[in-house]
Amino acid sequence: MSGAVLITGGAGFIGSHIAEAYQAAGWSVTCLDDLSRGKKEQVPKAARFVEADVRSKDAFQAIADGKFDVVVHQAAQIDVRISVDQPALDASINLVGFANVLSAVSAGKVRRAVFASSGGVVYGDPDVLPTPEPTANLPISPYGVSKLAGEHYLRVLGTLHGFEGVALRYSNVYGPRQDPKSEAGVVSIFVSRLLANQPLTVFGDGKQTRDYVFVKDVARANLLAGTVNVSRGDRLDVPAFNIGTGRETSVNDLAHHVGRAIDRTPVIEYAPPRAGELFRSCLDVSKAARDLKWTPQVSFDDGMKQLAAWFEGTQL
Ligand SMILES: NC(=O)c1ccc[n+]([C@@H]2O[C@H](COP(=O)([O-])OP(=O)(O)OC[C@H]3O[C@@H](n4cnc5c(N)ncnc54)[C@H](O)[C@@H]3O)[C@@H](O)[C@H]2O)c1
Repeated sequence: MSGAVLITGGAGFIGSHIAEAYQAAGWSVTCLDDLSRGKKEQVPKAARFVEADVRSKDAFQAIADGKFDVVVHQAAQIDVRISVDQPALDASINLVGFANVLSAVSAGKVRRAVFASSGGVVYGDPDVLPTPEPTANLPISPYGVSKLAGEHYLRVLGTLHGFEGVALRYSNVYGPRQDPKSEAGVVSIFVSRLLANQPLTVFGDGKQTRDYVFVKDVARANLLAGTVNVSRGDRLDVPAFNIGTGRETSVNDLAHHVGRAIDRTPVIEYAPPRAGELFRSCLDVSKAARDLKWTPQVSFDDGMKQLAAWFEGTQL
């Protein structure tokens, strides 16, 4: 199945890989981005590009008039610390912007909207690990609140206006094009520092865990989420899917793993723990396997090698 897709945030890290995945499957691709963090050169050459803020009339018009079958919403303020310091800015981009996109989806009679949620923040500090979708949602940051509220907007507006909505709750995504200066990108930071022979900083005792998923696997999940049959359901978690690996990796293990994958010995410097950081995070991805027919395919070693090759080819 193919058609026309618009990807907000399509010049960014994950959005540009999603654009490539849809294009490879024969879709006509439009990327919309305000280039606040994304780069135009990351948009695939054959894709159309619209420079616009998701909160703007221009974005609304581009979506409403574009005759799209699917809109994939990746554009966001992604920094948890900015959301803590400037919750109104976070809500403006992540909620007002998303509501504008969904109004345009409705006006343009788009069949389906796919939303980038976050399994690392919507559950808060979960009791159950790996965490399945029905686990109670209790975010601990304004960014987490905006992702959870985004899922509510998707469900309510989809029901009111008749479009389908799918939320993908990503774990920690890594891979080529992730900005090593971004807060989310510990794998990127470690790989880029090791390649530059710099020490790695670990906050706290390094025993905190995360679930690291490769960006091309996430892009494939977004392609499937645009096409497979999904139920609407009467609970928030029915059209929501965890996208991760189900594997828990501590930051200490990550440092050594990155070192082995790219053949460098890490020097680790420990720094005081960062306030508000989750201790453990790992997603149960059996629902995505069952309903989306999606499982992660890229091993951690392969993923890190691809990331290192990208760094060596572009930035060093
Ligand atoms: N990277 C992760 O580990 C991770 C984990 C969970 C969820 N997510 C979500 O995935 C999505 C993509 O994240 P990413 O890591 O690729 O980040 P990114 O910053 O590379 O991509 C976001 C893109 O959105 C664009 N953007 C920001 N504000 C905009 C606005 N007002 N109007 C139009 N465009 C705007 C940016 O220019 C950027 O290109 C985000 O919604 C993020 O919250 C990411």
